[in-house]
Amino acid sequence: HLRTIKMKYKERRSEFSSYIPPKGKLMTQEKSNLMWGGRFAAAQDDLMEEINASIDFDKRLAEQDILASKVHAKMLSQQNIISKADYKSIVTGLEQIESQIKNNKFVFDRALEDIHMNVEARLNDIIGAPAGRLHTARSRNDQVATDFRLWVRDQIDLQQQLLKSLIEALLNQAELGIDWVMPGFTHLQIAQPVTWGHHMMAYVEMFGRDLSRFTDARDRMNECPLGSAALAGTSFPINRETTSSALNFKAPSANSLDAVSDRDFALEFLSVSSICAMHLSRLAEELVIWSSAQFKLISLSDRFSTGSSIMPQKKNPDAAELIRAKVGRIFGANVALMMVMKGLPLAYSKDMQEDKQQVFDAADNLVIATAAMTGMINDLRANRENMEAAAHFGFSTATDLADWLVQKLNLPFREAHHITGQIVLIAEDRKCDLSDLGLDAMKKVDDRINDDIFSVLSVQNSVSSRSSYGGTAPSQVRKQINRWREILKS
Ligand code: ARG
Repeated sequence: HLRTIKMKYKERRSEFSSYIPPKGKLMTQEKSNLMWGGRFAAAQDDLMEEINASIDFDKRLAEQDILASKVHAKMLSQQNIISKADYKSIVTGLEQIESQIKNNKFVFDRALEDIHMNVEARLNDIIGAPAGRLHTARSRNDQVATDFRLWVRDQIDLQQQLLKSLIEALLNQAELGIDWVMPGFTHLQIAQPVTWGHHMMAYVEMFGRDLSRFTDARDRMNECPLGSAALAGTSFPINRETTSSALNFKAPSANSLDAVSDRDFALEFLSVSSICAMHLSRLAEELVIWSSAQFKLISLSDRFSTGSSIMPQKKNPDAAELIRAKVGRIFGANVALMMVMKGLPLAYSKDMQEDKQQVFDAADNLVIATAAMTGMINDLRANRENMEAAAHFGFSTATDLADWLVQKLNLPFREAHHITGQIVLIAEDRKCDLSDLGLDAMKKVDDRINDDIFSVLSVQNSVSSRSSYGGTAPSQVRKQINRWREILKS
């Protein structure tokens, strides 16, 4: 038995041989690290590069990294920490690198670990000695904290633009069907009639709160870590106000240990994104249900549907289903980063390099989900007739009947509820709608009921009577549409 296990292990070992260092022999790189070669006698193991290098993903921070470096170098020269001449050549070099990256001419090197060292090494190739002065009064710790905040901040701006387009699409649907009656559900059982406009506006409120959550998160993260250096600040006479405002931050961060070691801004982005994805997912779920043959309340456009390879009749709401799934991934990123952070002592630890892939993946998926949802909402057609027909099912105006008994006959609500229940029972028995039950049948349950009852039993009357603030009556929905149109304008 033991022999089989050992043989199995040998097979596995050869499968992964490139990952297993041969005994006694060091696998070395050509060059030892440019940035800290002084202290190291031996070169790095290939495996070390494999686990350590982040350039494959943090190259997405290139734009922010170069911007922050330019701002840092300018401040260093204004403070007479580096010479004007060195500053000029640093900026010229950085600009060349910028355009190389934009034109896909830049070769990212894994041996240089991350975006910060790739840029600095290239700067050295281009301008030589002055490149070595850029890192004065700075560490990769405050550098990455700054770059990443800038990235997340930009991402919030993009996400907010996308959310505004989605809200716009929902407002247009709401306006179109402001008085179209549809069934409102609780427990996915027909509850009371509502309007299409009201239902669309419910999502406007949700995405509106997501917008404001992103604004709050952006405001809190908008402090500049640059100048915190490795963890304790710096002895150079830097000016943190200058760099902070040049990068459009509100203020420099007030504690250098905190600034380089927390990633709560990324976590806040991920949790706000998770909530937003959850809202997208709920709407997606409704689109899936509504577009099914059993409901037929809406039809989705061909542009956002797929067919089946075997069943010719099918039109599947794949985009909605994928949007529904994204929340798992985005919330997963939130949990993953939370776990990375929860046990870290101050200040920086390399664990924190694992923050970026989670945020990038979540951000990309939230963008595509929001954009696809906007496309679907723009295109979808609500089926007015089917919605209205469905609104009649399930005695949806029973509450209106009970309310009438309270308002017109002055009954306590509990008694009205009981009487209505008995009337529903009769309608169920006769397999007819409440509005089709004759007055006689209702009078049998309670003699005080009169003709006026029919004025509240239709679904149209039901929705227009619910004119309390925030209610489903078209007059109320109109107010909310107008309010949101104003908000979007400002
Ligand atoms: N690539 C690193 C990261 O993303 C940059 C910071 C490295 N700092 C350090 N002390 N090794 O976290």
